[in-house]
Amino acid sequence: MAEVSAKPTGDQPALTEPFEIGGVEISNRVLLAPLASIGNWFVRLQAKRFGAGLAVSEMVSSFGLHYGNEKTMKELLRIHPDEHPVSIQLFGQSPEAMESAARIAAQAGADLIDINMGCPVPKVRKTGAGAQLLSDPELALDLARAAREGSGLPVTVKIRSGLMPGDRSGFDLSVRLVEEAGVAGVGFHPRVAKQGHKGQPDYAMARELGETIDVPMIISGGLSSAAAARNAYEQSGATAVMIARGSLGYPWVFAELTGQEVVPPSREAVMDELAWVMERAEEHLGEERAGRYLRKFYPWYLDQLDVPKIVRNELCQTAGLRRAREIVAEIRNGEPVVA
Ligand SMILES: Cc1cc2nc3c(=O)[nH]c(=O)nc-3n(C[C@H](O)[C@H](O)[C@H](O)COP(=O)(O)O)c2cc1C
Repeated sequence: MAEVSAKPTGDQPALTEPFEIGGVEISNRVLLAPLASIGNWFVRLQAKRFGAGLAVSEMVSSFGLHYGNEKTMKELLRIHPDEHPVSIQLFGQSPEAMESAARIAAQAGADLIDINMGCPVPKVRKTGAGAQLLSDPELALDLARAAREGSGLPVTVKIRSGLMPGDRSGFDLSVRLVEEAGVAGVGFHPRVAKQGHKGQPDYAMARELGETIDVPMIISGGLSSAAAARNAYEQSGATAVMIARGSLGYPWVFAELTGQEVVPPSREAVMDELAWVMERAEEHLGEERAGRYLRKFYPWYLDQLDVPKIVRNELCQTAGLRRAREIVAEIRNGEPVVA
């Protein structure tokens, strides 16, 4: 892997410089990637608070919106006034549903629509959606056109480089989506679907794509830290970077990349941030559901700190929000946590 350097070489703009996606101004080149069951309004808002230029939503079912599913409409389309610009990611394989879903997302306040063409999960792929679209380019083009038609907004895609090792169908489809369906940006994850989220992304292929298309190519994959993100930005020659797992429990990565903060956060700061997330989750889901939902968030925050295993286990296993808050406060203040 190439050596990490703080600044991009040549004439690649600094990550703090603005850019545009289909005429929508993005204040810098550091984005939150779509994360299923995670990237709701408050996780996106958190990324923005720490400096992200744009946050993309978790994937939202186009059918859920098309058929007016209440939970999809109310919870997944909830947008906070302070998170603009925001991109709503849709998935599905029906142009008709995609058109009406994109219209509904635009009415809910989306500034951009993104279409998921990268999800490798069998449950999604077997419906023909996600990465499966790489094997049906005409349908993929129709979906992008339908989303543009329905929303009147710039449409981007998030796409894999291929399905199997050696396959470049995602590269070829990306070019066609831009040239034939007017897609305004490509979030490129240069790992094939079969790799899932493992293995070294092919930044050289991403560079080739960026040089081929005349819209932003946003790099995704392997951006586990600020240093890794800078390295990927430089190696791929991308327009911008999209942080995914590297932001879980560590929104400070956005601050680091946008030049705001470089020191590791204190124990108090990490636990205060977790407490902020817990407040928002309760506001969003109510006490009972939030208590269960948050259990996957705790390890991400505790990973930043040295917390005894017994304490960690107690927090991660409690479904009760009240008890979780006590433990979080005790960890914050360095007090005993387990009776
Ligand atoms: C838990 C999880 C959920 C994800 N959900 C989505 C999603 O809803 N839509 C999408 O396009 N990509 C999704 N991805 C892929 C990420 O956006 C990103 O491309 C991938 O994690 C590679 O980046 P990383 O190696 O820096 O984590 C998900 C990844 C993870 C780990």
